[in-house]
Amino acid sequence: MRRRRRRSVEASGRRRCPAGVRGTPVRPVARPSQAGADGEARAQHDREASRDVDRALGSSGARAFYAQPTYANPTGAQWSTRLGRDVLDVVRRHGAFLVEDDWAHDLAIDTDPRPVAAYDDDGHVIYLRSLTKSVSPALRVAAVVARGPARDRIQADLGATSMYVSGLLQAAALDVVTQPAWRSHLRGVRPRLRARRDLLAEALREHVPEATLDRVPAGGLNLWLRLPDGTDLDLLVRECEARGVLVAPGGEWFPAEAPGPCVRLSYAGPDPDRFPEAARVIGEALRAAR
Ligand SMILES: Cc1ncc(COP(=O)(O)O)c(C=O)c1O
Repeated sequence: MRRRRRRSVEASGRRRCPAGVRGTPVRPVARPSQAGADGEARAQHDREASRDVDRALGSSGARAFYAQPTYANPTGAQWSTRLGRDVLDVVRRHGAFLVEDDWAHDLAIDTDPRPVAAYDDDGHVIYLRSLTKSVSPALRVAAVVARGPARDRIQADLGATSMYVSGLLQAAALDVVTQPAWRSHLRGVRPRLRARRDLLAEALREHVPEATLDRVPAGGLNLWLRLPDGTDLDLLVRECEARGVLVAPGGEWFPAEAPGPCVRLSYAGPDPDRFPEAARVIGEALRAAR
């Protein structure tokens, strides 16, 4: 099938656990995020999560902790403000840094995210943000926000490795984000993303009822779908692809053994009118892959 005929529910993006982890003495630990929980269950989850970070920094001696606190790729999980503050305290106590990858900040749907960096008053957060999702992959300009000695070292290092970021691209990026139209663009993205997200979620509920959608994410581009145990994920992905639907197998995102078969489905691609058709194909492929 020609590519443009494909009903893609998958976008390109960061996949897999960080390459640097493979082949090192690092022991990956999967920690399920608390989908939909609030109150005491959420508070308990947050305490355990920041304790895990504390333990990991203590036992490894690592100086940096990388995280996506807002609409994490692929699950769409979002940290509570309390968890952000707690992790920041832990990182500070260890004399380490939180590398906050705020890749989906501009793709908010139901919440108004506040970066952990906003609570950082002594330079323990290195904050990353890019325009590739909210403007265009062609405008490959990202920002690093850091303070103090970390900022100086990053600047020296980047200067030495990349020499410079294209002045033309920087001017274009600055032009985009300083126009009044930038704010209205972001406001317009929100309802469009919401409509797409809800359309795909609804289509999956209807056509793939065996699967579980733990979380309808409050932002970002992806739905993270848990499939029944025993699903042959490779077969499912191949069946879908043969019928023109591209989905991303979830195993690649787990740093340790995956707790079960999952797929990441993006609602950002063109042609949302075809989401129901794509969901029907996924449902049929799932039944063939069990
Ligand atoms: C976790 C994460 N970080 C950052 C990015 C953005 O990377 P770039 O700006 O290089 O496209 C993405 C894009 O998919 C991502 O998934």
